[in-house]
Amino acid sequence: MTPTIEVIQSFHNRDAFDCGVDDPNLFIKRQARQATERKRISTTYVASSLESPSQIIGYYTLVNYSVIVPPSLRVYKTYPHPLLAIKLARLAIDQKWQSRGFGELLLVDAIRKTVEVSGMIANIGLFVDPSTSSIVEFYKGYGFAKVEPTDPEKLEMWLPFDSCRRLLGPI
Ligand SMILES: CC(C)(COP(=O)(O)OP(=O)(O)OC[C@H]1O[C@@H](n2cnc3c(N)ncnc32)[C@H](O)[C@@H]1OP(=O)(O)O)[C@@H](O)C(=O)NCCC(=O)NCCS
Repeated sequence: MTPTIEVIQSFHNRDAFDCGVDDPNLFIKRQARQATERKRISTTYVASSLESPSQIIGYYTLVNYSVIVPPSLRVYKTYPHPLLAIKLARLAIDQKWQSRGFGELLLVDAIRKTVEVSGMIANIGLFVDPSTSSIVEFYKGYGFAKVEPTDPEKLEMWLPFDSCRRLLGPI
């Protein structure tokens, strides 16, 4: 089944969403729509099926991000700062739909949007803060690398722009 992926709207049933983790559950229920429509501080994209358009299979949220040269980005150190990037602020699949490839599908869609917007406003790639160390392996599987932490508490990864483009193949 190929889901529809669209910007979050009022008909999406946010209350029923459960990915098994509190933070993304609360975000979709309480903040995602307002943040997208009214505050315009992030954009949440929702996947649903044609048969049941209100049921949320999964979602991801993108925000603008700026990077102040972490050591692993030394190549950029002479460029004007901050550097513009995209952040994958949330990615979650409802438990009923997990392990069926939808996480990958939404991640690839987020990478595609990162490449598409660069045609209008340049960015250096897609960043993410994996919510737990076990999720690091999920992102590694798509080529994300750890950003050298300036803050040892922070677990941040990124997929450089060229890798985003390579992962999508010819477009
Ligand atoms: C993590 C999450 C988004 C993955 O989505 P999913 O639909 O279950 O994953 P997929 O079926 O698309 O799996 C794609 C690949 O990632 C792997 N994978 C999935 N979850 C993984 C995990 N937690 N750790 C490591 N690898 C994982 C799968 O094995 C699969 O690899 P394969 O193709 O080699 O078999 C989903 O489990 C989820 O929503 N978890 C709760 C919220 C969360 O932790 N989000 C991450 C925020 S940073």
